[in-house]
Amino acid sequence: MKSHIEIQRIEKSKIDSVDFNNLPFGSVFSDHMLECDYKDGAWQTPIIKPYSPITLDPSAKIFHYGQSIFEGMKAYKDSEGKMMLFRPLENCRRLNKSAERLVIPQIPEDVFMDGLKKLLEVDSAWIPTNEGSSLYIRPFMFATGSGFHASPADAYKLVICTAPSGAYFAGKVKVLIEEKYARAANGGVGFAKAGGNYAAQFYPTQLAMEKGYNQVIWTDDNSHQFIEEAGAMNIFVRINDTLITSPTSDRILDGITRKSILQIAEDAGIKTEVRKISVGEVVEAAKNGNLKEMFGAGTAAVISPIAGFGYQENDYDLPELENPFASQLKKKITDIQTNKVEDPYGWRVFL
Ligand code: PLP
Ligand code: COI
Repeated sequence: MKSHIEIQRIEKSKIDSVDFNNLPFGSVFSDHMLECDYKDGAWQTPIIKPYSPITLDPSAKIFHYGQSIFEGMKAYKDSEGKMMLFRPLENCRRLNKSAERLVIPQIPEDVFMDGLKKLLEVDSAWIPTNEGSSLYIRPFMFATGSGFHASPADAYKLVICTAPSGAYFAGKVKVLIEEKYARAANGGVGFAKAGGNYAAQFYPTQLAMEKGYNQVIWTDDNSHQFIEEAGAMNIFVRINDTLITSPTSDRILDGITRKSILQIAEDAGIKTEVRKISVGEVVEAAKNGNLKEMFGAGTAAVISPIAGFGYQENDYDLPELENPFASQLKKKITDIQTNKVEDPYGWRVFL
């Protein structure tokens, strides 16, 4: 299957209309996309075609029962024009983990990886080279099979489209520690990148935004006493010189940035702890000056420092440090991603 990807090229590229010096996040799309259909019990040959709308039956199960999952990854280009991905197999494996939970058929790793590489070859001119920008890649799979019976569909589509992108957050990030709503529950789908997980966050996030926050930090659904993660990133807190992040579970996404940062921090001699973080501990540390930093980690967010948080009607500001762990770790991971330093971990995959 892998050697027969059909390529339908666009007649005229729209790349000249894009201002690569002012890239928003995820809203300008490159010329081509990949589509691969699952039908009659098998994934078919992928097609690379011009970026275009998808036509679906109104009774397609994606619309009614939300069988939909996605991934987020990035492609980078170094100063010599070499193109690379960061730990792409991890994304493919997590896509299949999400697929299993949502009863979507597994995509073979070679079909995913070969299709992705071919798509990036075709749209290589769209990979930005400016500092802080990259080509954001959005693979997603959803139920195209139709019928109102509430059961898994018999047909699916994998699509990969890409968007040259700048920073996810414009400016400082202020978060609200959630006390009422929950993102995920034990035994649920929190660990999967299921579209519905994000839809379910919109309402509480909208309430938080009305109060001036950018994101919600989710707490455990049972007691709301422990920090889990944010809407689009895992969370790290630094209390004195120790960097702490919550353990992953079936409620928390096993972030690739999170695990890379843990590895980099440990190797840089930073003391790390993976353990439950109580909200009380964070509030207490903020009050007595021991809470030095909080930041989010994710593909889109990279490392996004948190300037302050709200909890129970109170606001807590974080100090502005000279050389915070967040900046040191962000530099290290982006230098690896963009081929500026050695990659002792073998995380870079050249195209
Ligand atoms: N948590 C959530 C809910 C996310 O959507 C993301 C983004 O993918 C992350 C964490 C970070 O994961 P990763 O570093 O693999 O992008
Ligand atoms: C990513 O970081 O790639 C994500 O999928 C987060 C998304 C909500 C933008």
